[in-house]
Amino acid sequence: MAKAIHICCGVGGVGKTTAAAALAVGLARQGKRVAVMTIDPARRLADALGVELSNDPQPVRGVDGLWALMLDRKQTFDQVVRRYAPDGDTGDRLIANRYYNAVSTRLSGSQEYMAMEKLLALDEDPRFDTIVVDTPPTRHALDFLRAPERVRSVLDKRVLGAVVNPTGGGLFSRASKRVLGVVYKMAGDSVLSDLQEFFGLLGGLSQGFRDRGAKVRSLLEHAETLYWLVLGANDPGRDDAFEFLDTLKAEKLHIGGILVNRVTPTPNPDAVPDLPKPDGIDASLWSERLTALRTRHQETVTLAKTQELALSEVNLRSGPAPMLHIADRSEGVQDLSDLAEIGDAIVASIR
Ligand SMILES: Nc1ncnc2c1ncn2[C@@H]1O[C@H](COP(=O)(O)OP(=O)(O)OP(=O)(O)O)[C@@H](O)[C@H]1O
Ligand SMILES: [Mg+2]
Repeated sequence: MAKAIHICCGVGGVGKTTAAAALAVGLARQGKRVAVMTIDPARRLADALGVELSNDPQPVRGVDGLWALMLDRKQTFDQVVRRYAPDGDTGDRLIANRYYNAVSTRLSGSQEYMAMEKLLALDEDPRFDTIVVDTPPTRHALDFLRAPERVRSVLDKRVLGAVVNPTGGGLFSRASKRVLGVVYKMAGDSVLSDLQEFFGLLGGLSQGFRDRGAKVRSLLEHAETLYWLVLGANDPGRDDAFEFLDTLKAEKLHIGGILVNRVTPTPNPDAVPDLPKPDGIDASLWSERLTALRTRHQETVTLAKTQELALSEVNLRSGPAPMLHIADRSEGVQDLSDLAEIGDAIVASIR
């Protein structure tokens, strides 16, 4: 049976990792066996999960049925190479190659690509029936969906052929000759031979990469895979949100809902009454404090209204997808009980 997969997307800093952890806690509390993949979680969140996070899932203390991991792209890339290399020697040489090192640690999009590799590994792991995926910080919510394909195309066999044999003609040869020329001028023979070795060795793995690409695509499109778009209440990035929603629709991917994070709860408009002055406080000081309190209250009312207005348009365009508000917590998201509270609300919205 297909596993339930939940993917938390959104631009940088909106609360994707927090939402992913909360959703995972909520699902485990429903009796699911959940693995949550986090990406660079804030220290406090990692502490809240109460495990030393590593690249392999560790059971979370205090929540039955929950495992958490922190994606390490280099380790994941190495595991993939070892698994798909035709023999141990090819794998070792590739991992020792300088160009491989740069690709696996620094190539833009390689973190997204490795998140997908990890997703496949978790999908094959019989301990879990549910997977929650956090995504790396990006400028656009859609980057996460597009990056793995971009990286895979860099590793495509046709490009490999052209680079390994730049005089052989074909689609990419002029471009690749130019690239090789630049690299050669910059760093001389050793880089060039590293590069040729890299593509040469990688050639043996390219069928494996392609097969896995197709598997990932089918996981991403599966009806059991839900996308959660996380937005910041103060800056909901409407254009980005609309583009994301339109793309999900166009690519027939399934939306779980929109999670609006850090919402300022609307205060009662008359919440600061004329409080009687306590004894022992100077009258003018008391009046000053009351005025400051009222100003602060007025600012909160205005902020809540601004947020409401900004979100109403997203709400109109989001169609039938549920839109959930997650309150801003002045103390931050501290522990498992905070995560459980947020997670239970998200889980309750799943139809
Ligand atoms: N509802 C909330 N109330 C208060 N603080 C929050 C809330 N949600 C998230 N935060 C805090 O905001 C910060 C960013 O959250 P988080 O790391 O989840 O965002 P992210 O989208 O994963 O960021 P990045 O794109 O950098 O990975 C963290 O310090 C987190 O504790
Ligand atoms: Mg994050």
